[in-house]
Amino acid sequence: MDNSESLEKSRPPGQTGRQQVQAANWISAKDLVKSFRNGGVSIDVLKGVQLDLSIGESVAIVGASGIGKSTLLHILGTLDRPDSGNLQFKGEDVFQYNDVKLAQFRNKTIGFVFQFHHLLPEFSALENAMMPALISGLSKPEAAAAAEEILIRVRLQDRLHHRVGKLSGGEQQRVALARALVLKPAILLADEPTGNLDNTNSDQVHQLIMELNQELSMTLVVVTHNMELASYMSRRVTITAGQLKHVK
Ligand SMILES: Nc1ncnc2c1ncn2[C@@H]1O[C@H](COP(=O)(O)OP(=O)(O)OP(=O)(O)O)[C@@H](O)[C@H]1O
Ligand SMILES: [Mg+2]
Repeated sequence: MDNSESLEKSRPPGQTGRQQVQAANWISAKDLVKSFRNGGVSIDVLKGVQLDLSIGESVAIVGASGIGKSTLLHILGTLDRPDSGNLQFKGEDVFQYNDVKLAQFRNKTIGFVFQFHHLLPEFSALENAMMPALISGLSKPEAAAAAEEILIRVRLQDRLHHRVGKLSGGEQQRVALARALVLKPAILLADEPTGNLDNTNSDQVHQLIMELNQELSMTLVVVTHNMELASYMSRRVTITAGQLKHVK
C-alpha cells in the first residue's frame, strides 16, 4: 500500500476521496467584490477577483499589509460573504447553501489556519485539535486518535495535554495547523501559518504542508510573507487594485 492509499484509508468516516473527482476547476471564485465601511469611509478591498483552482493545486497569496489577503481567504473559506460574486465548489454555488449546510460543507471540506489562531486557551492542545472532528460527528476516541496523529506530525507529541494558553506562540501556531488538518480537508486555507515560527519549525511546517498537498492532493491557498514557502507553491498571486495578479 502506498502512502496515499494508507492516508485515504485513515481518512475519518464521512470524508470523500477527492482523488475520484476529476473536475479541472473544482473551486471557482467569480467576480468577488468586497468593501468595508470603517469610520464613515468605504474601503473597496476586492473589486472582481477571479480564482480557479484544481485538485491539489497550491497558490501563495503574497503582498503588502492591508491589500486584502485575509479578506479573500475568509471568503474562500466561506467565513465571510462577498458583497457580490460567487464561490463554486464542484459546480455548486456554496453561498446559496443555508447556514447549516454551509457550516457542514466548511467543516468537512475546508481546514482554516487563522492569522490570529483563535484557539481555546483553557483547553488542551489535543482538545483544540479534536474540535472539528467532534463537530463532524466522530466519537470522542476517534476524534482524539485523529488529533493525536496530526499533533505528532507537527511535533507536539509532548504537549498533547498542555493547556494551549500556556504554550509558546510557535507551539500555538502548530496546534492551529493541527486543528485545521485533523479531518484531512480537501482544501487548506492558511493565513501566515509560519508567521510566528523560528526557521527550524517553519521549515518543518512547510514540509508537512507540502507533504499533505502531495499525499492527499490537498488544495492549498496560503497567505505568506515567507518567499521560500511561496516558492513551493504551483503559483503565486497578489492583489493589485482589488484584483488578483500573478507574480513570479
Ligand atoms: N471587518 C472589517 N471592517 C472594516 N475594515 C476591514 C475589515 N476587515 C478588513 N478591513 C480592511 O480591509 C483592508 C484589507 O484587510 P485584510 O485584513 O484583508 O488585509 P491583509 O492583506 O490580510 O493585511 P495583513 O498582511 O496586515 O494581514 C484593510 O484596510 C482593513 O483595514
Ligand atoms: Mg491578513
